[in-house]
Amino acid sequence: MMIPMVDLKKQYNLLKSEIEEALNGVFESAQFIMGPNVSGLEEEIAACHGLPYAVGVANGTDSLLLALRACGIKAGDEVITTPFTFIATAEVIALLNAVPVFVDICPDTYNIDCSQISARITSKTRAIIPVHLFGHPADMSPIMDIARKHNLKVIEDCAQAFGAEYHGQKVGTFGDAGCFSFFPSKNLAGYGDGGMVITKNKEIAAQVKALRNHGSSERYHHHLVGYNSRLDEIQAAIIRVKLKKIDDYNEARRRHAAAYCAAISNKKVILPSSAAGCEHVYHQFTIRIKNRDMLAAALAQKGIASAVYYPVPLHRQKAFLDLYSLNGELPRAEACAREVLSLPMFPELNDEEIKLVAGVVNDAA
Ligand SMILES: Cc1ncc(COP(=O)(O)O)c(C=O)c1O
Repeated sequence: MMIPMVDLKKQYNLLKSEIEEALNGVFESAQFIMGPNVSGLEEEIAACHGLPYAVGVANGTDSLLLALRACGIKAGDEVITTPFTFIATAEVIALLNAVPVFVDICPDTYNIDCSQISARITSKTRAIIPVHLFGHPADMSPIMDIARKHNLKVIEDCAQAFGAEYHGQKVGTFGDAGCFSFFPSKNLAGYGDGGMVITKNKEIAAQVKALRNHGSSERYHHHLVGYNSRLDEIQAAIIRVKLKKIDDYNEARRRHAAAYCAAISNKKVILPSSAAGCEHVYHQFTIRIKNRDMLAAALAQKGIASAVYYPVPLHRQKAFLDLYSLNGELPRAEACAREVLSLPMFPELNDEEIKLVAGVVNDAA
């Protein structure tokens, strides 16, 4: 039996008729750019977050980039974030010639350690980007307290956490902007690139709307230098089909995580935990084990995929080496980068597959 990290084919086969109907609707309408599916998805995502504004963009990276610009982040500003995330989180800061300042993580949740943020705030600090990594909410209460105290913007990177909740409130609704990715493997996804910014702030929404469309809010009049970063109508139509099922998908992920935790008894393995008050959505089911390469090889031998998210923390990436003196060593992120291993996780996973994966993990020396 082959078990992939994510089985998009299995999901497509279950959704085939709905997806085909949605796509046919787009083809028949011949409205491919900024049509009714983009505006429909924006309304639905704003509504399910209880916010007035949602703006579709071309991908998750752009959702962060445009949100940072709309929040006024500019060259020389410092933006605090986690080193244990996908490169895009910090790349967008550097693209604006601002400076990513990395704060070490909590090893339990893999998210930014809020107790270390204040020490890294300087007169140049303008924003914090918490990442809800692997689907586990960052600790938003202390982050918002620090942001209010120091007058900082908060841009939430929700790329891996659509639907996750922190004390009953959805991620993406705490800060000035919440940024989502609809990359095919994400919890809520299209069949290509896509992203969205949600916000309660009218000016930020207007600014992101203009920036995604060449800095324009009136055709052929450009008040900003912007981007071509529109969400595609075809992607929006597909994402709308999956949005109807997102609560069931996230519930299935939580069930699978509980089944993995019940079945894995290897004492050398650290299982993922969910902090009190947090509704984890298990974008990834990530364990820690010292000899993870041996375990990955044992899984591969049985046809089971596994993946390392992420092998190199951002302050150790070549692209950011010039920042190394600013950030120094971040021991927890470095230890996690050496030891994490993500196991197959997707809503359509079944009990037999989970047992098989857990069996190999338990047998690992
Ligand atoms: C945490 C995080 N931030 C940002 C992104 C960027 O999203 P995209 O690939 O849609 O540009 C990703 C996706 O890979 C991500 O995992």
